[in-house]
Amino acid sequence: MANETSSSEPRAASTKEEWNEFAYMGPGTLAGRYMRLFWHPVYVSDDLPIGRPKPIRILGEDFTLYRGESGAAHVVDFRCAHRGTQLSIGWVEGDDVRCRYHGWKYGPDGQCTEQPGEPEPFCEKVRIKSYPTQEYLGFVFAYLGEGTPPTFRRYPAFERDGVRLVTHWERGYNYFNAAENDAIHVFFTHHRTHGSWRDMQLPRIEAEETPSGLATIRVWPDGRRTQTRTLMPNMSYRKARNSNAGRGNNLSWKVPIDDHHFSQFNLEWFPFGEKAERYVQRRKEFAKDQTFVDELVAKVFSGELHLDDIPVEGADVHTINQVEDGSTQRGQGVIADRTAERLGRTDAPVILLRRIWQRELRALAEGRPLKQWELPEDDEAAD
Ligand code: FES
Ligand SMILES: [Fe+2]
Repeated sequence: MANETSSSEPRAASTKEEWNEFAYMGPGTLAGRYMRLFWHPVYVSDDLPIGRPKPIRILGEDFTLYRGESGAAHVVDFRCAHRGTQLSIGWVEGDDVRCRYHGWKYGPDGQCTEQPGEPEPFCEKVRIKSYPTQEYLGFVFAYLGEGTPPTFRRYPAFERDGVRLVTHWERGYNYFNAAENDAIHVFFTHHRTHGSWRDMQLPRIEAEETPSGLATIRVWPDGRRTQTRTLMPNMSYRKARNSNAGRGNNLSWKVPIDDHHFSQFNLEWFPFGEKAERYVQRRKEFAKDQTFVDELVAKVFSGELHLDDIPVEGADVHTINQVEDGSTQRGQGVIADRTAERLGRTDAPVILLRRIWQRELRALAEGRPLKQWELPEDDEAAD
């Protein structure tokens, strides 16, 4: 791992490990410690019925997620304290969870409250870990760090009356490959749906750090500037424009499952309208079948299928784009080797994002104050 330095300037990274520090999120790693300072979405609310616990893996750690009979979602340790079986195979009783193996019962605070098979119960001495949760805008959020959680961030632009679409998928490569997806790739990777570099003058790409993270700016040949925002540590915020649904907002989180997989949670908001309702309904249907995307990506990888042979006519553009993004990002390697890259001017946002991460990780390692990220104003949402 990197050597410590007293300089507040980000150092040039020189080794593969150093470049990739932000890619390793397991417990005890520097980036893992940083990421655990924030609330993260861990599940889609609608996918968590009362009484059916789920095993979840986030930031390289396993947990048990369940919805109690009160309706509240709870996150506790993955394993029972007794002989370590997986708690998600157990039962929910009230807001407690009972282990399937020998019936020990735990409250949502992790306190053991019953050991029905023990002649002399010692529940008061047994406690498993539990984690703060919040449910908001269709997701279960959890705080998996130590101590008091930070203030829960709200997103007023998405709370307004309107039509909301919640989607989720998982991909089999490091989350940072996706986090540093760039602004120029669309004209190549998605040339069939977003306009091709062959037929247009490409924009100039600029990047600047903002109070919320970084802005990626496209300066078009006619002088127009459009932008998307990366919100630290793992979100993007942009305008969602759809000819059917109108102008909306799009917020998405990339949450590492472990170093080789991540979850993407997406929230889209559109103003009320029949067209928006129909559009969202249609997207929900497509989003359900993520196996389809995985299968196509696997076929593209094996050479069985070329991306341009997937028919666009009549297909869902988002599905096509997910297969294309999944292929290019997975194509960098499960964890990209950033020492071998040859970066150019269009990579300014990529370079800036890494610098920000390196600066914050150095500060964390040295016990210096971290930048307190703010949320962008609504009208800054991007384009
Ligand atoms: S392993 Fe859970 S009660 Fe025995
Ligand atoms: Fe893309």
